[in-house]
Parts: sequence; C-alpha cells; structure tokens
Amino acid sequence: MAESFAADWLDLREPFDAAARAPSLAEALVAHLDAKARPRFLDLGAGSGSLTRWLGHFVGRAHSWVLADADPALMARAFDAMIEGAEALGWPATWPQKKALLLHAPTGAWRIEGILTDLARAPEGLPLAAVDAVTCSALCDLVSEAWLARLAAALARHRLPFYAALNVSGRERFTPPHPGDAWVARGFARDQRREKGFGGPALGPAAPAAIARAFAAAGYRVLRAPSDWIIPAAAGEMARELALGHAEAALRHERREAWRIEAWAAVRAAQAEAGRLSIRVPHQDLLCLPPI
Ligand SMILES: C[S@@+](CC[C@H](N)C(=O)[O-])C[C@H]1O[C@@H](n2cnc3c(N)ncnc32)[C@H](O)[C@@H]1O
Repeated sequence: MAESFAADWLDLREPFDAAARAPSLAEALVAHLDAKARPRFLDLGAGSGSLTRWLGHFVGRAHSWVLADADPALMARAFDAMIEGAEALGWPATWPQKKALLLHAPTGAWRIEGILTDLARAPEGLPLAAVDAVTCSALCDLVSEAWLARLAAALARHRLPFYAALNVSGRERFTPPHPGDAWVARGFARDQRREKGFGGPALGPAAPAAIARAFAAAGYRVLRAPSDWIIPAAAGEMARELALGHAEAALRHERREAWRIEAWAAVRAAQAEAGRLSIRVPHQDLLCLPPI
C-alpha cells in the first residue's frame, strides 16, 4: 500500500524544498533537453506538484508535465495549487474539459495532466514512450533497491534522463543538542528502512548511493549535488513539525524508550515554538543522463 502524506505537510515544506534543490542540476537537465521544442516531463510521486512549480521555471519555453501519484486528494490539490500559483504570477489558466490544465506563461504554456497509479507496479502504467525526462522529488527514500533497478532498466530502454531531487542522506542535526537525540535518530533511522509499499525495505538515506549505482550500471552518467534542508530557528512551525515527525517515526520502533522520545518531543516542540530550534537535514539531488 502507498505511504500517505498530508497535503498540509507538503505545503509547509514546499518553500524549504525550493530553497534546497540544487539549481545546477535543474539547469543541466534542461540543457540536456535543448533539442526538444516542447520537453515533456513525467513526475513520479508528484504529490501536490511542488517539483513542477519549481522546475517548470527553469524550462523557459512551452513544455508539459504528467504528474503520477496514487493519492487522489493530493492530485486534486496539485491542480488547485497550479492554478493558484499561475494566478499569483498573473498567468491565465485554462482547463478545457478538465483534461490538461494549461498555464499560459509569457514564455510558453505549461501543460499539466495527472495519472493516478500505484508506482509499486512501475514501469507498468507509466507513459515512458511519450515523455522526454522522468523526475521525482522526495520519493526515492521510500522505494526499494529492486524497484530502482527496474526503473533504471526501463528508462535506459527509452534513453530517458532521470532527475531525482531531495534524497535524504542521513545525519540530521538538531541545534541545540539534546541528550535524547541519539535515541530519536536510532528509531527514525529504523523507520526510514521500513517497507513503504515498493516491494522491499525502503532505501532511506541509502537512496543517493543506490540511485547512482543503479543508473551507472545502466550506462548513465550520474551528477550529484547537495540539497540540504536548512530550517532556521525563525521557521518555528516547520521545525516543530519536523521534530514531531521524527519522534512519531522513532516511537514506532523504540517502544521501550518511549518515555525518552516523548520527553524529547515535548522539549523540541517548546524550543521550536520559542524560535530556538534549528535543524539541518542533509539531502542530495541526482541527475542521471543516458548514454548518447
Ligand atoms: C514525500 S511525498 C513527495 C511529494 C512531492 N514529490 C513533493 O516533493 O512535495 C511522496 C509522494 O509519493 C507518493 N507515493 C508514495 N507511494 C506511492 C505509490 N506506491 N504510488 C504512487 N505514489 C506514491 C505519495 O502519495 C506522495 O505524494
């Protein structure tokens, strides 16, 4: 079963995601697609469309997106947020027969469609023959090594580039330190490897290395760039949600230490609310370019 994510959480993290992703790899992807008059992107695990709203601005000409996700509520939120985002920029949005949404940007229209699919079956159900690049953001820590190998083989058959943003790489740092940090980190790390519906233990912080391995084995050139989340003390709501999320995940595995983790969560929530908690979550972006 697909792991579920709250729309409010994806909304809260969107500006931190946007600030963290490495522009150099987005530019390299767009440069790779230079010869395509209207590049077509397929975004896996698109959620509420945060990656499209960020990456689309690098394309600079008419282009299209297929958003793929299992969650119909997030898909609906993605289309609403695209329209709201376009309106905020003064771009007209049209949605003929509610099939493809068109955002009429001054540099060319963004065409956006959605497909509801369980990505566990991928590449089955994906329109790989009808796109020029496959993307994802904050997805690969959920998938298994076998799933990634299958995806790499399928993308290689179609000679498609793969851009994977915001892959956690481990060793989160909460400041100031707290004696419970190690207990929470241990439980959180165990939760990151929990099976998340992709046919094997989730990759968690092993995702960047696993992506690089799978695509290099398929003959791809792999580019990597850091994309850490930097949550300053002033971003109290984000710091609070992130700390409570860590505690909730840790509690699934560290039942005997529950009291320590609950005490840690209470202290961290109070620090966040007082504007005294900052957090760094290391991530990496990867761009895998097919052999010519
Ligand atoms: C951490 S969220 C990232 C969402 C979005 N890419 C972003 O960066 O905001 C992971 C996304 O993967 C989707 N997902 C997880 N498992 C899935 C599956 N088996 N099939 C399809 N989508 C899945 C979730 O619904 C969610 O939208």
